[in-house]
Order: sequence, then C-alpha cells, then structure tokens
Amino acid sequence: MIKISDTEYYSNDKTIRFLNMDCNEFMKKCNPAIFDLAVIDSPYGIGEDGSKNHTRSKIATSKNYKAYQSTDNDSPTIETFNNIIYVSKNQIIWGANHFISKIPYDSSCWLIWDKDNGETDFADCEMAWTSFKTAARKFKHKWQGMLQENMKNKQQRIHPNEKPIELYKWIYDNYTKPNDHILDCFGGSMSNAIACHMKRRKLTIIELDVDYFKSALNRFSEYEKKTEDILEFGYAKTKIEKSNPVLF
Ligand SMILES: C[S@@+](CC[C@H](N)C(=O)[O-])C[C@H]1O[C@@H](n2cnc3c(N)ncnc32)[C@H](O)[C@@H]1O
Repeated sequence: MIKISDTEYYSNDKTIRFLNMDCNEFMKKCNPAIFDLAVIDSPYGIGEDGSKNHTRSKIATSKNYKAYQSTDNDSPTIETFNNIIYVSKNQIIWGANHFISKIPYDSSCWLIWDKDNGETDFADCEMAWTSFKTAARKFKHKWQGMLQENMKNKQQRIHPNEKPIELYKWIYDNYTKPNDHILDCFGGSMSNAIACHMKRRKLTIIELDVDYFKSALNRFSEYEKKTEDILEFGYAKTKIEKSNPVLF
C-alpha cells in the first residue's frame, strides 16, 4: 500500500485509491461522468449496521460486528443519488428496492443476487437497480451466516454488510471492460477493491467509518502481499511464514 495521508492510500500498482471521508464531500469536487460505472452498496435503511445480535438462522449463526458510524437507520438522501448519477456514466445500486423513490429513472436491468439462503428469515436475495438497458439478470452464490458458496476458500468476513468478492467479479465480467474506472462510495469491507484489482479495473473507493476503513486496508494489504508473493516466488510467503517462521 502507498500512504498519501491518514485518509488517502493507493494500492502498490496505483490502480485502487482508498479514501476515508464522506462520499458527498468527494463527489462535490468531481466533474460530470468521470467514472465509467458507480457500483453502490449504501446503507439500505433497515437497521443492519452490526448493532443487532444475529442469531436468527437455525443452520448457521452470524458473527457480531461493531456498528458503523453512519448506522443503517436511513438510506442516503436523494442528493447523494443525484451526485452519483452526475459523476458516473452508468450505475449499479444495490438495495434500491428499499429506496426506489429516491432514484429518478425506471430500469429494465435489475440484478438479482440469489443468496441460496435456506430456512432463515433473512431475505432470499438482494436486488440492484442499474442504468443499463439490457435484460434483468441473476447471480446465485450462497451467503448465509458462516455458510458460503466456496467453503474450501471461505471469505473471512470483517463487516456486517460484506458482499462476496465473487459477486463483484461477476459484475465486472458482465458490465465493464479492462481499465474502466469504477466508483464505490460506500466501501465497507472493500470486497470491491479486491475484485477490481483481480479484474484489472481502476477504482476509487470511499469509506466514512475510520475503524472499518483501517480493517479494510489491512485486508486489502494482506491480499496484495499474497498476490505480489505469488507473482514473484510462485507461492504466498505469508502463509508459510505463519506455519514455519524460521524459513524467512
Ligand atoms: C452497506 S455497507 C457496504 C458494504 C460493502 N459493499 C462490503 O462489501 O463490505 C455501507 C458502508 O458505507 C459506509 N458509509 C455510510 N455513509 C457513508 C458516507 N456518507 N460516505 C462514505 N461511506 C459511508 C458505512 O460506514 C458502511 O461501511
């Protein structure tokens, strides 16, 4: 990671910019349509910010998390969505079924993430409004408490609303091209940063909560180190270091 200040970092290859600030403050200074795509996962306004004790699933309980600073009691304002639409050519906005009155356009192309949720009272799927004119599409990927689609290579969750890296990769395969510049105003765990780096997309990602910003940077930094080790040595030194510290 390259540190510019306490609130601004870059990935070592400078393709990902991390900002710890209010996204509206950032967007106020942006020119129109400077981002190819905004991928937005804002608070939905349903109280799922980590402050609840999650024991609703009979099959797999969820971790408890620190509530984030802004809370999930309200979705962003109409002005925030207008800013997002102003600074980007296209938009994908998760959770828009909860606040569709704040989005000024109809869409043929909603995206559905089927969480293969089983017998819980959590929602079976999440929905994203998009600005694309194509058909609605579905992505199926299990995400239920500790149960995940790929149990051999589980994503170690650090955020109450964390999305799978695989979901973001599917978006980039289908709705972008290499080197497109993406905006994410509500970074959270920054699964999106890892997906963009893997798919060679440029990204500006913003997170308001300083604690979640720091944990997401640590997570990205670990991923970046492993990726660089694999490129240089053909394997990730960090894993071997933990099991056999005398080797390095
Ligand atoms: C739904 S979560 C994002 C989860 C993320 N997609 C992930 O995969 O981990 C929303 C995040 O937006 C952050 N946030 C809320 N208001 C914000 C604002 N005005 N500017 C920047 N970040 C904000 C919250 O702290 C929270 O971490």
